[in-house]
Amino acid sequence: MTTAARPGTAAPKPVPKPVPELAADLDAGLRRLKLSTVRRLAAEVMQTAKTQRWTPEEVLRTLIEAEIAARDASNAANRLKAAAFPVTKTLDTFDVAGSSIPAATYDYLASLEWVGTQQNLALIGPPGTGKSHTLVGLGHAAVTAGLKVRYFTAAELIDTLYRGLADNTVGKVIESVLRADLVICDEVGFAPLDDTGTQLLFRLVAAAYERRSLAVASHWPFEQWGRFLPEHTTAASILDRLLHHCTVVVTEGDSYRMRHRTTGRR
Ligand SMILES: Nc1ncnc2c1ncn2[C@@H]1O[C@H](COP(=O)(O)OP(=O)(O)OP(=O)(O)O)[C@@H](O)[C@H]1O
Ligand SMILES: [Mg+2]
Repeated sequence: MTTAARPGTAAPKPVPKPVPELAADLDAGLRRLKLSTVRRLAAEVMQTAKTQRWTPEEVLRTLIEAEIAARDASNAANRLKAAAFPVTKTLDTFDVAGSSIPAATYDYLASLEWVGTQQNLALIGPPGTGKSHTLVGLGHAAVTAGLKVRYFTAAELIDTLYRGLADNTVGKVIESVLRADLVICDEVGFAPLDDTGTQLLFRLVAAAYERRSLAVASHWPFEQWGRFLPEHTTAASILDRLLHHCTVVVTEGDSYRMRHRTTGRR
């Protein structure tokens, strides 16, 4: 018999069946194996399995799938944090038609095929033409696809390498940067580099050559990189390696920032 709630009173809430606790030895074993999701769900899944007559295989599958899904999510969150993106930008919020980047090029870049084959990307164009958005959006897509990514501005990258120089660990610093499948170096040429900075950049680009993907963005066409890389022979060697296997995209037009400027009321 069901009891109807009296008008004005809340219907009684169904009392949830208490979930039995997992046996202590199973709990300890799962803790030791670091199967935290299985540990958290096992008792409840076993109870459901009993009432719904699941096969043993279904029980195992449910628990394994839950553990894998939780690990994938936590790995992706860790990779996203390690990527150190300065902002959240994704490829699907980029208006390709409203940019100067050809749709076919954008699709190719979004396929991430070039990252899989250790090729590079260079975006060259004036302010506000979507270079950083594209770099971060591609980086985000790569993280989602299970790849390791690290974003730097050129200034941050050079600072990081300089710190290695101070304690004689440049080689180690470069190897740690190159643990990423895709290294993004944004805002190349905002500030000029000294000779040491240029050489440090060369060491990184040379170490990444045909081993990792580099994606760079700059206002400056390559023939003007001498403006911020004073040591011309090293600058030429950097460009030679960077551009050997590289998709070069020239972004043009008015700044998206200016076109979509929002002005506050005064
Ligand atoms: N085609 C686009 N669709 C959507 N948003 C865009 C597009 N192009 C630029 N934006 C937005 O405009 C702003 C400026 O773009 P972005 O930072 O990518 O420019 P940039 O080329 O890196 O400029 P800078 O050289 O000054 O660093 C960002 O908020 C970005 O999300
Ligand atoms: Mg930018």
